[in-house]
Amino acid sequence: MTDYPQIIKQMQALAASSADPVALMANTAALLYHGMENVNWAGFYLVKNGVLLLGPFQGRVACVTIAKGKGVCGTAWAEDRLQLVPDVHTFPGHIACDSVSRSEIVIPLHRNGAVCAVLDIDSPLPGRFTAEDAAGLAALAAEMERILE
Ligand code: SME
Repeated sequence: MTDYPQIIKQMQALAASSADPVALMANTAALLYHGMENVNWAGFYLVKNGVLLLGPFQGRVACVTIAKGKGVCGTAWAEDRLQLVPDVHTFPGHIACDSVSRSEIVIPLHRNGAVCAVLDIDSPLPGRFTAEDAAGLAALAAEMERILE
């Protein structure tokens, strides 16, 4: 099980020198990618000019823009709701950036009451993400929102 309290502590320590959003997202992607087991992509898409634009991440190259309501990320944005997808092959409209990905979790981040970004994590294992991951990542996202306020 991922030690989310520890990852959140490390994130807070790294943010102490600067709360710059790109620096925070880049280090958070690295903490998650290297701190979670069986993960092949961890990173952020940012709401920009009406689409989701690729932000800081760790993993293989990924699609650059995602429309609102498209794929798992665009759905998390449109519905403003965490998406836990045990099998991406059964998710209508899933965007396969890396064919190795089998399960995915996406958490929306907010600024001034609106979604400003999503945190996306992919795994090569089906059913990799649990309710505990959802809770841990929701806590991490809430802390990021607080830092970036
Ligand atoms: N699978 C995502 C696209 C982003 S990549 O996984 C990095 C989706 O369906 O939104």
